[in-house]
Amino acid sequence: MKKICRFLVLGSTFAVLAASGLAKEAPIPQLVKQDGRFALLVDGAPFLILGAQCHNSSAWPVLLPKVWPAIDYLHANTLEIPVYWEQFEPEPGKYDTSIVDLIIKQARERKVRLVLLWFATWKNGSSHYIPLWAKAQPEKFPLITGKDGESVDSPSPHSAAALEADLSAFCAFMRHLKQVDAERTVIMVQVENEPGSWGSVRDFSPAAEKLFGEPVPGELLKALGTNAPVGANWTTAFGADADEYFHAWSVARFIGQVAAAGKKEYPLPMYANAALRDPLTPGPASTYESGGPTDNVLGIWKVAAPALDLLAPDIYQHESARYLKVLELYARPDNALFVPETGGPAGYPRFCFAALGRGAIGWAAFGLDYTSYSTEPQGAPRMTGEALAPIALNYKILEPMMREVARLNFEGRLQAVSEEPGQARQTLDFGSWKAVITFGAGGRNNSTGGNATPIGRALIAQLGENEFLVAGVYGKIDFTSITGRKRSFRRVEEGGYENGVFQPVRIWNGDETDWGLSFFSAPQILRVVLSTY
Ligand code: DGJ
Repeated sequence: MKKICRFLVLGSTFAVLAASGLAKEAPIPQLVKQDGRFALLVDGAPFLILGAQCHNSSAWPVLLPKVWPAIDYLHANTLEIPVYWEQFEPEPGKYDTSIVDLIIKQARERKVRLVLLWFATWKNGSSHYIPLWAKAQPEKFPLITGKDGESVDSPSPHSAAALEADLSAFCAFMRHLKQVDAERTVIMVQVENEPGSWGSVRDFSPAAEKLFGEPVPGELLKALGTNAPVGANWTTAFGADADEYFHAWSVARFIGQVAAAGKKEYPLPMYANAALRDPLTPGPASTYESGGPTDNVLGIWKVAAPALDLLAPDIYQHESARYLKVLELYARPDNALFVPETGGPAGYPRFCFAALGRGAIGWAAFGLDYTSYSTEPQGAPRMTGEALAPIALNYKILEPMMREVARLNFEGRLQAVSEEPGQARQTLDFGSWKAVITFGAGGRNNSTGGNATPIGRALIAQLGENEFLVAGVYGKIDFTSITGRKRSFRRVEEGGYENGVFQPVRIWNGDETDWGLSFFSAPQILRVVLSTY
């Protein structure tokens, strides 16, 4: 509790200074941990990223007018948008900050925060975003070599020159952010994009082979708790996993150094994102992007790249069991859960609530802009209101109270769930009260069959012994007392939050409460006081 007070004090000190016109600089955003839970502090208080990522080639001045209307429509509070190394450093050592500046300016005009994505050495396992002058020097920016000696379309993590070039550009970028963003419009930076390699589990070039034959770093052996003797090489220490672990270590070391150098310039929270392997039936590393922060090598990444604040899953697996398993695998005591990319089509939006239920600091869907591109089936098939509406519904509910949701989650007082096939009825334990959620039921309808497709979402936070914050869609929420006595709704108020204070607009009673609290398709927030009789 002590730490929370300190954060709130920090936040309120800033608010007082800002009001008096004394403060020029907001505190730098920061990821903090307390009692095993995480919060992203923005302006000194927990912040929940309700995000949208634009398409890959949308971060150009000519396209931005097609990006912002989607962000507005969604009620997203954060835009995730790339910064292209090829654009940022068109000539060695000459930096073009014009687009970054424009994006920051336009975000401020809309009161939207930014997560900037450093598309540099790795973008989806390839190096297509390195500048032209770098592409012209393959000896300094080599691709990896496959097992049979073939060239693979993926950058080598073993080139000191490539590391130096990426790191220098990233430092220039972070230095610039520090200079221009005292307002902290940019709240986090993604270092590279889905790093690793498709097409070969590791680099088999002569330089890589030499390193592969050397002893595994002692710190890694220690951290992984292997029985391998000090001095063991990769094959001795890790057997069948040696190729993948070596590649993960090499990629993570490279990115960890880029992140660490950038943080020295300006210590914003930083993360790397993963192209996932199947969380239930993964198969060999040759079947997924090897070397990135997949669930099996998170421990390696943590040791190799301590400057990264978190490792994040890009979730494009919409089956319930797989999606929930990924959330579980990335919400670790040593890793804050953040979903920086997920699918846009129907079927995905409800998982925002499942992520919140696991303490996520944010959730963002991919490909949400009105440019004419579509990443179907991963993104929405067409950018229409129909495609965006289910995500907008999440943000219409959550955005007005995102500070409260982030704080309550950090304090361990919030639980949230999504409807899952075969789980139309779910019970949440709040000690002396249990919250019972019945998806697909509403009003006098007590059906427990669920919605025709699973679209229900519910969020409940305990504010006091008998007081709750309740929100949801497409289901009914009720409470039972563990005393065995019957539940009574003492008071149910619908309203919204203004500057952190709940402002009621009406009292629910009669049909609205007699059969439980029903939620249909409207974004509604309730404050509920319970008693027993
Ligand atoms: C995951 C990548 O990280 C994104 O940049 C984009 O390529 C999406 N996949 C959609 O294809």
